[in-house]
Amino acid sequence: MPNSNLTEAKRAKNDEFYTQYADIEKEINAYLEYDPNVFRGKTILLPCDDPEWSNFTKYFAQKFEPLGLKKLISTSYAAESKTYKGVYQPTLFEMSAPYYDKVKTVQNGKIFTLTRDKTGDHKVNVDDLEWQYLKGDGDFRSDEIKALRDEADIIITNPPFSLFREFLAWIVEARKQFVIIGNKNCVTYKEVFPLFMENKMWSGRTEWSGGLWFETKDPSDVDKVIDGVNMKNVSSVWFTNIDHGRRHQPLALMTMADNLKYSKHKEIQGKKAYDRYDNYDAIEVPFTDSIPSDYDGVMGVPLSFLDKYSPDQFEIVGITKTWFGAAAKTYPPQIQVGSNGQKTNVTKLNDGATLKLDTPPSGQTYYMIGNKYYTQLYARVLIKHKKAAK
Ligand SMILES: C[S@@+](CC[C@H](N)C(=O)[O-])C[C@H]1O[C@@H](n2cnc3c(N)ncnc32)[C@H](O)[C@@H]1O
Repeated sequence: MPNSNLTEAKRAKNDEFYTQYADIEKEINAYLEYDPNVFRGKTILLPCDDPEWSNFTKYFAQKFEPLGLKKLISTSYAAESKTYKGVYQPTLFEMSAPYYDKVKTVQNGKIFTLTRDKTGDHKVNVDDLEWQYLKGDGDFRSDEIKALRDEADIIITNPPFSLFREFLAWIVEARKQFVIIGNKNCVTYKEVFPLFMENKMWSGRTEWSGGLWFETKDPSDVDKVIDGVNMKNVSSVWFTNIDHGRRHQPLALMTMADNLKYSKHKEIQGKKAYDRYDNYDAIEVPFTDSIPSDYDGVMGVPLSFLDKYSPDQFEIVGITKTWFGAAAKTYPPQIQVGSNGQKTNVTKLNDGATLKLDTPPSGQTYYMIGNKYYTQLYARVLIKHKKAAK
């Protein structure tokens, strides 16, 4: 296994990444700009959020009054149930409670709720959080947390990376509004992509490029240290089903002829035409800003298009790789020729959009069927212009 895969596998088991306050504030502000009353009268559940660590709890508790929340519920997962076990030390806040319990502090989850001014200072804020131990360990899949999910209007969190599919299904089955963080690549999952196609889930406001920086608890997997805090960059993005303004801003695009003449991308400028896939009736558009404004057929675009997608401008018709929503031609077995010239018998060409080549490319993996040469592209979202938007 290459090193980068090893790191990914290790990271998938380490779910202890903490979202920064500024990232939460930036994302939530976009929903408020679009609809200042979006959270008014709502019960918000933060189901993977220990208030002692979570900036989600801190943010929503501090903004309880300005947002007009009805109730904030934040639950945490028991220290002993976590996959990554660092050194656990209960906080002084917990230890000073009369019902502090040495066993429950490691074996049980905790629930924090905020509904009223407990301190009598005529404000409802972080000081008014009330807490108790949960009956179980706080697993979002437990009946105890499911009941809280059913009570809530909106679920917001950065869920455990390793359980993203299950977590999303858990929200969708209860038909809740949500704002969550997940890995960019999860959009290709067969459980996730159909939600994008049906406009039941979309990208949040924060741009995808650059990923997100999280505080990490694993000292062996750190990208940089800021003010003594270990930080890790992960290719994570926000997903939601709550509307925001960016979703309704169409991309400014050039015609196909202008792209071929003036595109800033060397892969497009000077070509006679856009490449066409060999196994599906669509053109290859390698960059979102190169989508031609006047092409009526299906276009294959990079996954990062979803960061810019406006349902007013485009329709999503499918995805290559899993080919959800689209049926591609099936190739017979092929010979894969690696960049080092090594040959292997495979059937991989069926797993993505392909381009037919006139000659074998040098220094790059390609496929042979008889005397024909092919190359395979990264996953592509298949889109069409919306007729009315043209
Ligand atoms: C990626 S971290 C994010 C923490 C926090 N939401 C934040 O963004 O700062 C995910 C958290 O979910 C917790 N977790 C893992 N499995 C869980 C489960 N089955 N149910 C609830 N929480 C879980 C992990 O212990 C971890 O604290």
